[in-house]
Order: sequence, then C-alpha cells, then structure tokens
Amino acid sequence: MLTELAARARARLDPAHWDFFAGGAGDERTLRANEEAFQRLRLLPRVLRATGPRDLRTTLFGTELSAPLLVAPTAFHRLAHPDGELATARGAAAAGTVLVVSMAATTPVEDIAAAGGPLWFQLYPQPDLEFTAAVVRRAERAGCRALVVTVDSPVFGRRERDRRNGFTDLPAGLVCEHLRDGTGRVRDIVMDADLGWERIDWLRGVTGLPIVLKGLLHPADALLAVEHGVSAVLVSNHGGRQLDGAVATVDALPAVVKAVGGQVPVLLDGGIRCGADILAALALGAGAVLVGRPVLWGLAAAGADGVRQVLDLLREDLDRALALAGARRPADLTGDLVAARC
Ligand SMILES: Cc1cc2nc3c(=O)[nH]c(=O)nc-3n(C[C@H](O)[C@H](O)[C@H](O)COP(=O)(O)O)c2cc1C
Repeated sequence: MLTELAARARARLDPAHWDFFAGGAGDERTLRANEEAFQRLRLLPRVLRATGPRDLRTTLFGTELSAPLLVAPTAFHRLAHPDGELATARGAAAAGTVLVVSMAATTPVEDIAAAGGPLWFQLYPQPDLEFTAAVVRRAERAGCRALVVTVDSPVFGRRERDRRNGFTDLPAGLVCEHLRDGTGRVRDIVMDADLGWERIDWLRGVTGLPIVLKGLLHPADALLAVEHGVSAVLVSNHGGRQLDGAVATVDALPAVVKAVGGQVPVLLDGGIRCGADILAALALGAGAVLVGRPVLWGLAAAGADGVRQVLDLLREDLDRALALAGARRPADLTGDLVAARC
C-alpha cells in the first residue's frame, strides 16, 4: 500500500540517508520480522454486525486522536525534507493525531509546538541528571502531553548500512536541537548502559507528565513498568534497529497484554504498514499503534502533505478493515479475530 510512496522517497533521498532511515541493526532479521509477523497473521472476520458508521476516535491521556494511530519518534527529519519536524507536525495535526518528537530531532521542540497539533516528547535519559531534567522541563514548557522514555538503547545498535556508507555525522547546519545546553553548545547523545528502574522513579519525581515506557518486549518488564508507576507501555524493538534477533513486536504483544492485565494502555510499534496490521494489533490488545518509517517516506516524498497522506491512508484503511471484520469501534475488537499464524 505504501510501497509507491517509499519508492518516491527513495528517489528523492541521498542513498546514505535512505539507508539511515530504512535500515536496521545487524543482518536486519528483526527489521524484516516485524513486517513478516503481521503478514503471517490470518483473520477470522464476523458478519451481519451493523458496522456503519464507524468511530475510530481514541483518547489517550485526555487527548482525542482521529484513530488509534500516532507518529513514532524518529531522528533527523531535516535529512528527509528541508521543513523537517515542522512538516511532520503539520501533517500529523492535519490527520488529527499526536507526533512524538524525538530527542534526536533537528528542530527545537518549541518551534515544533508552534507548528500546531498535540505533541509527546521522547527522551533518552542522559547520565547528566541535571541536563536530563532540563530537557524534560523544556518539553513540558513547550506543551508536550506525555514523556516517552526509550529504554531499549543501553548502547547503539550496530547499523551495517551506516558503517558501509560512512554515515556518522549530520551534514553541516543540522544538529540534535535537544542536546544544546545552557551555553548553546551541542552535546553528544549518550546511550546510558547504566540505566535502571531507579531512573524511572527519579523521572516520575521530575515530571507530572504521563510516562510511556518505550522499547520493552518481555512481559516481566511490562509488569515492572506498571509497578514503577508508568502510565503506558510501548511494545517496541526500535524498528529492528537495536537487538537484531529480537522478537517481532506483534509476536511479543499478547504476553505483554496479559501481564499488564488492563492496568495501563499497551501501545505497539514496528512493521505497521496497512489497516489490517493495525486491526490485528488492536484485536490482540494494543490500545493504539505508532508508525515510524511510513511517515518518513511521506515526509521525504511530499513534506507535510505526504505525512498527512500516509496517516489518512492508514486511518481509512483501518476504517475499511474494521467494517470488513465486523466491528464499528476499535474497542469492539477481540482476540478471536486473529485466527492463525501461517
Ligand atoms: C530512522 C529512524 C530513527 C529513529 N529514531 C528514534 C529516536 O530518536 N528515538 C526513539 O525512541 N526511537 C527511534 N526510532 C524507532 C521508532 O520510534 C519506532 O520504534 C520504529 O520506527 C517503529 O518501526 P517502523 O519504522 O517499522 O514503524 C527510529 C526509527 C527509525 C526508522
């Protein structure tokens, strides 16, 4: 469905930048597995259920979304399009959904907020706690409505494509804007291998924003996350960019949903490419899904308009899939919709 847009994006992008966006870690097993796991699912639809009109609206932390579909945090949007994160924010707002702003954004969160639309902020906690707290306060002041803490990155995944291409630095003029400190100097981002649960407790003391823990796959971690007071968990393997060989997210989802037992919403990202993928994730217990690369393809192909197109397309496809499966609302979906894995 989105392949034509991806081809347009590829044609417009510097090949090294395409590889940065498209690639994964290692042999890209997990990158492929995310999509393949959805393709293996077979659905068992119901009939004669009076499925019109559908209502896809979903509320998360008090924000109403046009569908259970958000924009995942991804780095360096100005590599994809000159308008960068501003275009992504405009596209997401036009589609009626939330953009999760990356800690590695190439546009400051204050400017992205001015482009309109609800935002969440993604954080890589830095070993410098004072600096980390200052970043969180920036996100709060800019109006972000949740803090997404990424915990699958104690070290950088090994990205073979970037190594091959010698892609190590952003081009002149682009920086990670959220790594500027008080003096205007731009710090290097640190993947903190010493991060532990106490940092989540600390963050809860720093901010009143809902905390979404991003990048867990194991049900025991989901349970710990709930015990440590997070407001949602996000089942993610970073789009196959961290531990190559990690389980596909839709395969990890049912055990996480079971462990969490409805105490907080369970979100999912990785490999969502059409309405039926969203349908399956919702049926297996996800409260909403996020998309990463498809939005980048829209952005690279046509800026804000391309982002809106991708999100509209996915929402419309979910609407059709819901009707065809015999449901009117996401909440009507149940696990028996997923009949088999082939
Ligand atoms: C180019 C790229 C950059 C990313 N940058 C970040 C990031 O800065 N922070 C983060 O938490 N996740 C990051 N991710 C992971 C995404 O948030 C998300 O987990 C993943 O893209 C979902 O898979 P999908 O691309 O198949 O939809 C990035 C992913 C890609 C493809």
